[in-house]
Amino acid sequence: MFIVENIKEIREVIKKEKKDGKTIGFVPTMGYLHEGHLSLIRKAKAENDFVVVSVFVNPTQFGVGEDYETYPREIEKDSELAKSAGADRVFHPAVEEMYPATYQTDVEVKKITQKLCGSSRPGHFKGVTTVVCKLFHIVNPDRAYFGQKDAQQVTVIQQMVRDLHMDLEVIPCPIVRETDGLALSSRNTYLNEEERKAGLILSKSLFLAEDLIKNGERDAMKIKNLIRENITKEPLANIDYIEVVNANNLAQLHELQDEVLIAIAVKIGKTRLIDNIRIKVL
Ligand code: PAJ
Repeated sequence: MFIVENIKEIREVIKKEKKDGKTIGFVPTMGYLHEGHLSLIRKAKAENDFVVVSVFVNPTQFGVGEDYETYPREIEKDSELAKSAGADRVFHPAVEEMYPATYQTDVEVKKITQKLCGSSRPGHFKGVTTVVCKLFHIVNPDRAYFGQKDAQQVTVIQQMVRDLHMDLEVIPCPIVRETDGLALSSRNTYLNEEERKAGLILSKSLFLAEDLIKNGERDAMKIKNLIRENITKEPLANIDYIEVVNANNLAQLHELQDEVLIAIAVKIGKTRLIDNIRIKVL
């Protein structure tokens, strides 16, 4: 079967592939797959012999009042898409499979989870690292693929892998965007036509900031202000955060240097969107 629902079975499949000397690529997702996810699967297939994609809407990373119940789910279509992009199995466990009633262990990365999305979504990254750690133990991959769309998530996972001496490589992958600039996200499906247009303010503001930096601006506050002014002009947009940080450790910057990450979170109507760009400052 292409879709595997239990842990014991996926372990057996992977054990056999490993015994045959195959390398395992892993792409964890919450499903409702789009081109962003598929780009990760294609890269995983290009760099590994056998690719496992997990589709699991992880309850522990959603806060109270967030969209766990309404998060879009479409496993049959996801499975077709994953297969066409090169996946060899889709791992799609039930919540009780991942979190049996006896479960009582969490995995938490401390400092870097307090900033950016971590401060507006308390407990979110603890849920992410817990489920990703569990999935890594189940799939036992050589390489795991994560999108830069969730820049802080990549940094947090890399920290967990280093801290817990996990024997795998985390591969960050570029953000896939619509032709008009909107970063692909499963949550874009929540946007109506008007909100979809308003959502363009995220990427537009980031590209404007990029131009400013290319023209020599190095003052983080000026860059933040430009982004803030621009987003405030959009009536449907409500800023959650605008941060200019060191791309490697997420430390706040006053003056831009080395590799910079500009990360923003903005609510468009009821939908919270995130986006970011990385810029090498010479
Ligand atoms: P999900 O939001 O489904 O995303 C799965 C992976 O796809 C993540 O690594 C994410 O960064 C990547 N991705 C999403 N949109 C992308 C885009 N436009 N371009 C490139 N990559 C993109 O992130 C999660 O699920 C969960 O937190 C998970 C890691 C699966 C743990 O539950």
